Amino acid sequence: MDGLSCREYRPEEAAEACAFTERIFGPLPLEDWVGEPNLTASMAFLDEELVGVIPLSLRSFKLAPDLVCTSAWENAVGTREDLRGRGIGTAMIRAAREFLADRTDLLCVYRGAERSDGYRFYADKTGHVDLCYIPFYRLNEPGNRRPDGYSIHPHQEVFARAEEMAALHHSHWGQYGGHVVRDAETYRYLIDCAIYGRVPATRTLHRIEVGGVTAGFAVTGIRQGKRADGTCMIMDFAVADGAPSLAARLLDGVESYAHGEGCPLVWPSSMRTPLVPLMLERGFERGPRRMEIMAIPVRPVNLFAKLAAARGGCEVTVDVWTPTVDYRLHDAGETAPRCTLELKDRELCLFLASRLDGRTALEEERLTITGPAPLDKVEQTIARLGRCMPWVHHYLDWL
Ligand SMILES: CC(C)(COP(=O)(O)OP(=O)(O)OC[C@H]1O[C@@H](n2cnc3c(N)ncnc32)[C@H](O)[C@@H]1OP(=O)(O)O)[C@@H](O)C(=O)NCCC(=O)NCCS
Repeated sequence: MDGLSCREYRPEEAAEACAFTERIFGPLPLEDWVGEPNLTASMAFLDEELVGVIPLSLRSFKLAPDLVCTSAWENAVGTREDLRGRGIGTAMIRAAREFLADRTDLLCVYRGAERSDGYRFYADKTGHVDLCYIPFYRLNEPGNRRPDGYSIHPHQEVFARAEEMAALHHSHWGQYGGHVVRDAETYRYLIDCAIYGRVPATRTLHRIEVGGVTAGFAVTGIRQGKRADGTCMIMDFAVADGAPSLAARLLDGVESYAHGEGCPLVWPSSMRTPLVPLMLERGFERGPRRMEIMAIPVRPVNLFAKLAAARGGCEVTVDVWTPTVDYRLHDAGETAPRCTLELKDRELCLFLASRLDGRTALEEERLTITGPAPLDKVEQTIARLGRCMPWVHHYLDWL
């Protein structure tokens, strides 16, 4: 498109970028934009005039227990209404992939509505790949058993308890990927993330104590204002070591809170969360897959290096061939055997995000390998590196 240029946002453009996003998506207080740590954006200008913005939140994201990548999350992707369908959105994403390459492994987005034009924009137009699906579990009539040692607190209490929460989260979910790495800092910003400027919600911290020590916590949100939906959402949940009895007690507490508020409980989670038996026992019903986390690898070489480091190294030089690109994914040195992975861009993204099982993909020919390295040996290496790790999503990460 003549006169179109896209580049990274500059902090002095905060008011302009925020107002632009607000015009498309509704109220977004500037203080929330400015207060969001690690925020950048891709900006599109047509002859100097701002015509598109993609805010990007930079986060450490866990792909697998020992595998953390840097990620950028697109949120509120918007092109000026009269200029849509002319390549501006695609150009902003292309620019983001370029300017993020000095700091980001994976470009991610939350999406839903797989039959919509919006979904097709990400999946078909710009090459994002579905990494996991997020169903909403729903309990229409929460129980009213308030357990001993249970208490609730306004969300500001999270600031004081962030460290304790991060430790509990790790204790419960350490073996899972699929969520933002929890530490004290992340809790402080996740709980007050800019999304609550647009979708205000009463957030509540729930605690369960054993012998005076916090043994589990949950965070719930009840939307307020225009997007209020009368449900109480479970946004985060963790108990020491994932102990089922503690999880059941904490859920009793959360149910009693929702009961008191007169709200059904809704738990956006994962297809294979280990909490499914507990949810089903309580009468939660799983809705259809409702959202997905989608991504594009920005630094595949870096992602592969992290993956190899976490899984015993890679003694083979690996080239990659897809219908769109060829490049060297891993250099094991001059004398190392060499092979080429042949696969679609989608499978490559899944492989790099620890969501593709190498052995199964080889069997199913979704991944094929050519030499000159001896194939039996290379296949063993790829089967060792390519793992589909269990992912658990927590709605507090959503933006
Ligand atoms: C989604 C959006 C950012 C795409 O930007 P864009 O500048 O129109 O993107 P492009 O021109 O590069 O690509 C357009 C493609 O996106 C898809 N699309 C999604 N919504 C669309 C819309 N409202 N108008 C036109 N195309 C749309 C179409 O499939 C189109 O594909 P086509 O060119 O093959 O017909 C833009 O439509 C928009 O601002 N929509 C409103 C806000 C929104 O819904 N954002 C996404 C959710 S966060």
